[in-house]
Amino acid sequence: MTDHSLHILVTGASRGLGASLAKHCAQHYANNQQPVLLSLVARNESALADCARQCQHYGAEVNYYIADLQNIDITMTTIKTIARQPVDIAFINAAASGYSTHGEEPWTQQQTIIQTNLIAAMACATGLIPSMKQRQQGKLVFISSIAAYRGFGLNPSYNASKAGIKCYADSMRHALAGYGISVCTVMPGFISSDMSAGFTGAKPLIITSDKAAMIILEKINRQLSLIQFPWALIAGQKLLSLLPSTWADKILTWLSYGTVTDPSKFDSQ
Ligand SMILES: NC(=O)c1ccc[n+]([C@@H]2O[C@H](COP(=O)([O-])OP(=O)(O)OC[C@H]3O[C@@H](n4cnc5c(N)ncnc54)[C@H](OP(=O)(O)O)[C@@H]3O)[C@@H](O)[C@H]2O)c1
Repeated sequence: MTDHSLHILVTGASRGLGASLAKHCAQHYANNQQPVLLSLVARNESALADCARQCQHYGAEVNYYIADLQNIDITMTTIKTIARQPVDIAFINAAASGYSTHGEEPWTQQQTIIQTNLIAAMACATGLIPSMKQRQQGKLVFISSIAAYRGFGLNPSYNASKAGIKCYADSMRHALAGYGISVCTVMPGFISSDMSAGFTGAKPLIITSDKAAMIILEKINRQLSLIQFPWALIAGQKLLSLLPSTWADKILTWLSYGTVTDPSKFDSQ
């Protein structure tokens, strides 16, 4: 790493939005002739190595770390190792999802989702903040979702995790305001990825992960602290949260966002 390299961390960089964010960062900073060091984290080594190769193609220096973020000790150790080179921008993106059947989610699934999407995300931030504070510099980017505005029966623990991380990000922005650290909350609509492929409800206005990464980077470069898109889904979700719950639930059921009652149909999709 050269002294003036920008150090960018992306969790969940093996596929989907995380891989797109890593590649678009590599390309963007190469175009701006800014040397960049990318630290990529996920469990799937071959997919992570593939993403690393694509980033290196743009001239980025890349280190990748195989880590299961469900394990908080591993998460803390990995972040500590990465933060030996002070991190400038951290995309806290890795997440798991799952659906409910007949109104219930297995407890192990709920634990996995909350552990990965909320607790590990908070652990990543906690591990990064001391060195960012010391330098009075750094940006934490938390990937939440429009699901944070109004939950629905198909993905209860996922929706709870995304509402939790939105609230945590907003709170940390306030807490860290005087310490030179900026915090950005990202609330995307539907993005085509392995995660959305497993979502059986309607997916209006879905966009590719590359397009989503480009929107996020463009808005981050404009120093926005809340990034939400597309506006029509944001407006719809905010409206739902204002409606009486029985009305909102009826609309959500009509969109097939209710609990799964025929798992065989779900599994065949
Ligand atoms: N897709 C959508 O429609 C959508 C909409 C709104 C917000 N989002 C948010 O956008 C982010 C990216 O979602 P995506 O659609 O790109 O999902 P995805 O395609 O399923 O990718 C999830 C990423 O997280 C990593 N990950 C999951 N569990 C992990 C664990 N225990 N340890 C380490 N890494 C783990 C995965 O890597 P490994 O499996 O290799 O570990 C993968 O790189 C998430 O925060 C998601 O909530 C997605």
